This record gives sequence, structure tokens and C-alpha cells, in this order.
Amino acid sequence: MKLFLTILLSTVFLACSILTIQAQESTPPEHLTFKAAGADGPVNFPHKDHMEYAGECNYCHHKGFDAGKCHNCHGPNTVHGVPKAKVAFHTLCIECHHFEQNGPRSCTDCHKK
Ligand code: HEC
Ligand code: HEC
Ligand code: HEC
Ligand code: HEC
Repeated sequence: MKLFLTILLSTVFLACSILTIQAQESTPPEHLTFKAAGADGPVNFPHKDHMEYAGECNYCHHKGFDAGKCHNCHGPNTVHGVPKAKVAFHTLCIECHHFEQNGPRSCTDCHKK
């Protein structure tokens, strides 16, 4: 009986730990800042607000969450049809702000010193 309880409790504990780790990994960030070192300044990105503006996650996370970070694929140069980060982000951010006639559209409205 004691052995059974020990195994049961360890199993419950393990399950809780796994759930906690998964929850931490998938919690969407409230706010992000892109350093954009080669530009006039870093770019603010209120992530949580944008989850509402876009309506669906894969509007931006277009390869799904298992694919990892944008910069895993979008680097400093365009390679084999994968647009470089600058092009990918400018297309994503600026096109929607133009479409919505809302949100920053000029260089220094996004890249703030
Ligand atoms: C307007 C674009 C946009 C929308 C919509 C959006 N995200 Fe994101 N999200 C981003 C960007 C950009 C990052 C930064 C990723 C990076 O640095 O590679 C990010 C990061 C994340 C991260 C941190 C882990 C990671 O992949 O870097 C999580 C978790 C996340 N988003 C979840 C969500 C969820 C859930 C939704 C939908 C409810 C959502 N996002 C909608 C653009 C967006
Ligand atoms: C697994 C690799 C991969 C990841 C991760 C990835 N992308 Fe992409 N992205 C691509 C490829 C490849 C293309 C070229 C068109 C296509 O296949 O969808 C592309 C195209 C784009 C485009 C279209 C650009 C244009 O000129 O029309 C945008 C915008 C974009 N990605 C933004 C993002 C953002 C933002 C993230 C992170 C939230 C992200 N991508 C994550 C591989 C990736
Ligand atoms: C799906 C459409 C969409 C995309 C994609 C998008 N935005 Fe926006 N963004 C908006 C809208 C709409 C507003 C204005 C919201 C308001 O003021 O009511 C906005 C506002 C902003 C603001 C002003 C602060 C705020 O929350 O009002 C910043 C900064 C911003 N966006 C940065 C970005 C960046 C950086 C990206 C790309 C990573 C991006 N946005 C992509 C729709 C979008
Ligand atoms: C809607 C916001 C927005 C606007 C408007 C915008 N940018 Fe950007 N820019 C970004 C984001 C986001 C990145 C990607 C940063 C990253 O890769 O982490 C970026 C990247 C860059 C980079 C590359 C930085 C690097 O280190 O790779 C340069 C250069 C740049 N922008 C210049 C400009 C210029 C010049 C303008 C005006 C013609 C402009 N940007 C307008 C958001 C914006």
C-alpha cells in the first residue's frame, strides 16, 4: 500500500511538473522589443494587443509554433526564397498598418531612439 501511494504521488508530481513547463513555454508575451541594431533604433511591439488586431495567431506565426522563432529562418540575408528579417517584418507590420490606416508607418515612428 505504501509503495502504491509513493508511485501514485510521484506520478502526480511528475505530471504537474510537465504541465507547468508546457504552460511556461506557450504563454504569449505581453510585449516584445526588436533590437534592429542596423536601424535608427529599436522597435516596440505590443504583442498582446496585436493578438486582437490580427484575429488569429498564424497571421504572423505562419509556420506554426513548433517551427520556433522567426529569426530561426529569417536571418540577415535572403536565402533560398526565405526573405531576410528586415523584409519579412517590414512586409508584415507595415502592410497591415497601411491597410488599417492605423499604427506606425514611418521609419521613426517604429524605430525609436
Ligand atoms: C501581429 C503578429 C503576431 C500575432 C497576431 C501573434 N504573434 Fe506571437 N509573436 C509575434 C512575434 C513577431 C514574436 C516574436 C517571435 C520571435 O522573436 O521569433 C511572437 C512571439 C510569441 C511567443 C513567444 C515564443 C516565440 O515563439 O517566440 C508566443 C508563445 C506567442 N507569440 C504566442 C502567440 C499566440 C498564442 C498568438 C495568438 C493568440 C500570437 N502569438 C499572435 C507576432 C505575433
Ligand atoms: C520554418 C521557417 C520559418 C519560420 C519559423 C518563420 N518563417 Fe516567415 N517565411 C518563411 C519562408 C520559407 C517564407 C517564404 C514564403 C513561404 O514559404 O511562406 C516566409 C515568408 C514570410 C513572410 C512574407 C514576406 C513577403 O515578402 O511576402 C512574412 C511576412 C514572414 N515570413 C514573417 C514571419 C514571422 C513574423 C515569423 C515569426 C512569427 C516567421 N515568418 C517565421 C519561413 C519561416
Ligand atoms: C494584422 C494587422 C497588424 C499587424 C500584422 C501589425 N500591426 Fe501594429 N497595429 C495594428 C493596428 C490596427 C494598430 C493600431 C491600434 C490602435 O491604435 O487602436 C497597431 C499599432 C501598433 C503600434 C502602436 C501601439 C499600439 O498598440 O497602438 C505599434 C508600436 C505597432 N503596431 C507595431 C507593430 C509591429 C512592430 C508589427 C510587426 C511585428 C506590427 N505592429 C504588426 C495592426 C497590425
Ligand atoms: C511598423 C514598424 C516599422 C516601420 C514603419 C519601419 N520598420 Fe524597420 N524594422 C521593423 C522591424 C520589426 C524590424 C525587424 C527587426 C528584427 O529583425 O529583429 C525592422 C528592421 C529594420 C532594419 C534592419 C535592422 C537589422 O539590424 O537587421 C533596418 C535597416 C530598418 N528596419 C530600417 C527602416 C527604415 C529606413 C524604415 C522607413 C523607410 C523602416 N525601417 C520602417 C519595424 C519597422
